[in-house]
Amino acid sequence: TRPFVVSAPGKVIMFGEHAVVYGKSAIAGSVDMRAYALVTPSSGHSVRLVLPDIDVDVEFDVRQLPRLRPGDLAHPGDVETLLAEGIDVPEGPGRTAVLAFVYLYGSLVAEAGALGFTMCVRSLLPVGAGLGSSASFNVVLSAALLQMTGQLQGEGATEEDRRLINSWAFQGEQVAHGTPSGIDNSVATYGGFLEYTKGHGPAPLHSTHALRVIITNTNVPRSTKALVAGVRALRDAHPAVVDSILDAIHNISVTAATLFQAPEEAAGGELERQLHDVIRMNHGLLSALGVGHPSLERVRDIAAGHQMASKLTGAGGGGCALTLVPRDAPKGAAARVAAEMADEGFCCHQAVVGGAG
Ligand code: PMV
Repeated sequence: TRPFVVSAPGKVIMFGEHAVVYGKSAIAGSVDMRAYALVTPSSGHSVRLVLPDIDVDVEFDVRQLPRLRPGDLAHPGDVETLLAEGIDVPEGPGRTAVLAFVYLYGSLVAEAGALGFTMCVRSLLPVGAGLGSSASFNVVLSAALLQMTGQLQGEGATEEDRRLINSWAFQGEQVAHGTPSGIDNSVATYGGFLEYTKGHGPAPLHSTHALRVIITNTNVPRSTKALVAGVRALRDAHPAVVDSILDAIHNISVTAATLFQAPEEAAGGELERQLHDVIRMNHGLLSALGVGHPSLERVRDIAAGHQMASKLTGAGGGGCALTLVPRDAPKGAAARVAAEMADEGFCCHQAVVGGAG
């Protein structure tokens, strides 16, 4: 078989972060900063996984890897306990990636016998910035292994193919994160926009819109756990006030879901004007919840200086922000905004949200 490439996008939370923890609706979209896997099949018993962006280069004899059947493990993360002596798994951020690989290889290739190959995955997504880098990795990994073992039907991934890829990618995410929500792998698999409510799982929105944005990584490290705990403490102290903020955020997500599903022709510039308003308001509400950061206010001010709206995306307290670039923005405006942000030491990517999975 010949070498092939599979790819999957990252995700941004457009609206509803933090409120989603309390059962409110959130909207996420795919961002075309993708992970790409190049798979080169070989005849031997060796598999090599190369992840240059996180300094991983490991080689296994496939006969040493555990073979997994459904029900063998209580939780995918338990794969660690099955590693044979002498299997070398790196420390650091590469560790979860390699463990997910061992889990998915053991599960998907078990029936097909030994399968040798080299897989090199490159990603444009920063790690730990809330852009779903691990989910897009797990989606390309699942898609590649399913493709190699002949378990996919179509060249362009049919509905059933995507369902299968997504369910395996979710297990890969469980290896990495214990109890993920499933939102990241669903966005990376299906693309576009989706609505998410706790207990209901992700529901893809029927949207053909693609939005130009600037993704700005403030490079300020943050802890999602601490920020979520901070919102909880604020809510315990001021339940009526905080609940009304969470409800306001919910209404923004509901409004956005309607906007995204409006037909392209009917929506036009009006869609972007309304999105501009809700992005601005959602950011203010998140700041009120105490998850802002001076770096995020700097991003917002620079964008506002060019009549663009910004909001933090993900947990806040630093991390990433997204800025909507309207279609009628003056030529070169996005590049000027990105340059001003870069002058502050932030990393900017011009990207499109809502593209293919
Ligand atoms: O920073 P991220 O992408 O992991 O987003 C966290 C989103 C929160 O709503 C703050 C937490 C959560 O679990 O939904």
